[in-house]
Amino acid sequence: LRRPEPDARRRNARSCHNVTDFRALARRRLPRAVFDYIDGGADRESGMAANSAAFERHELLPRVLRDVSRVSTSTTLLGAPARMPLGLAPTGFTRMFHHEGEHAVARAAAAADVPYALSTMGTVCVEDLAAHEDADLWFQLYIWRDRGLTTDLVDRAAEAGYRVLVITVDTPVTGMRERDLRSGFTIPPTMGPATLVDLARRPGWWLPFLASEPITFANVPPHLLRGTESAMAFAARQFDPSVTWEDIAPIAARWPGPVLLKGVLRSDDALRARDMGLAGVVLSNHGGRQLDRTVTPLDALPGVRAAVGPAFTVLVDSGVRHGSDVALAIALGADAALIGRPYLYALAAAGDLGVARLIALLEGQLRRTMQLLGVTSVEELRRHGGELVSSRP
Ligand code: FNR
Repeated sequence: LRRPEPDARRRNARSCHNVTDFRALARRRLPRAVFDYIDGGADRESGMAANSAAFERHELLPRVLRDVSRVSTSTTLLGAPARMPLGLAPTGFTRMFHHEGEHAVARAAAAADVPYALSTMGTVCVEDLAAHEDADLWFQLYIWRDRGLTTDLVDRAAEAGYRVLVITVDTPVTGMRERDLRSGFTIPPTMGPATLVDLARRPGWWLPFLASEPITFANVPPHLLRGTESAMAFAARQFDPSVTWEDIAPIAARWPGPVLLKGVLRSDDALRARDMGLAGVVLSNHGGRQLDRTVTPLDALPGVRAAVGPAFTVLVDSGVRHGSDVALAIALGADAALIGRPYLYALAAAGDLGVARLIALLEGQLRRTMQLLGVTSVEELRRHGGELVSSRP
């Protein structure tokens, strides 16, 4: 079987001019249940809708007649240079969306000079990704019931050269994703008549899998799976509702570099993370996939920044869809923004070329926003953020 023509992928990538275009193309290319797994949120999905609405509630206040002929979007993230204040958030089961999965994402991240976090639920082996891709790789950790497996993963990632450890803490249990229940989504997919009809219409997605490795839960030793248990069932069984702050320090102590807590939404939690010596937090509601109806990360941001002071790293995700959203996040106090679904849509639409195109579009949008706002650097945007943004009630 031949791989899909790079030209077709290039055409697909070039036909997209924003995240909405990539989402539409992903929807056409993916089986319905797989698309809904990416696209959906928890419960009534009101938290997911609120994430994007929070960005729309803010207005930019441009300064005119500034020389903006030279603008730099570059920044430093936890001690490493990045071309823009953007990172690719960890996402599980990424090879479900494109047969090249995490490798394609990391390749695009490396070319664009932005960091990429591999998920604990990765479908590629920790060592394999680090050996083949030259990106600024971060590793995202779920603290599983099996603490031996958890610390093994941390040590393997550190050994393989991942730079930043991101411990996700908004998942004592998995969120209730009703779309997945309705579609019967499982990993690997179960093959009912409806799935087969859907697959017959989308050979562009599944044909390449025939010539590539099967989708597996790459970092779990197969003997730990019970019988015919699916990867998803294993993961659900491993989420540990008994995890507390006391579990964080010993894990952080094993990691040679910066450690972030992901899924924080309160100033007191951010302060606690800072006071225990962690490098920063990711303000996130998991893209509205865990607790529905939370405060949006963007709305939590100014209060958290005021509480923790300027030196502690504060990243924000959930609802970032445009370069101007990245600008808003910086102006409101973030060091950088992360994206989840946008790069998955781009991956599904056109593989690594899609992800590369998406990042280039976001960079262009950020640059133009900065020019039209009258600022020439990320530092200036951060310093003068208070004068450049107003929020509607
Ligand atoms: C996620 N997210 C996530 N987060 C995490 O810490 N570990 C994980 O394995 C996953 N898996 C995952 C899968 C899929 C399909 C999605 C869409 C998201 C959450 C992710 O890191 C990030 O917080 C959100 O995606 C950000 O919101 P947006 O950009 O999708 O709105």
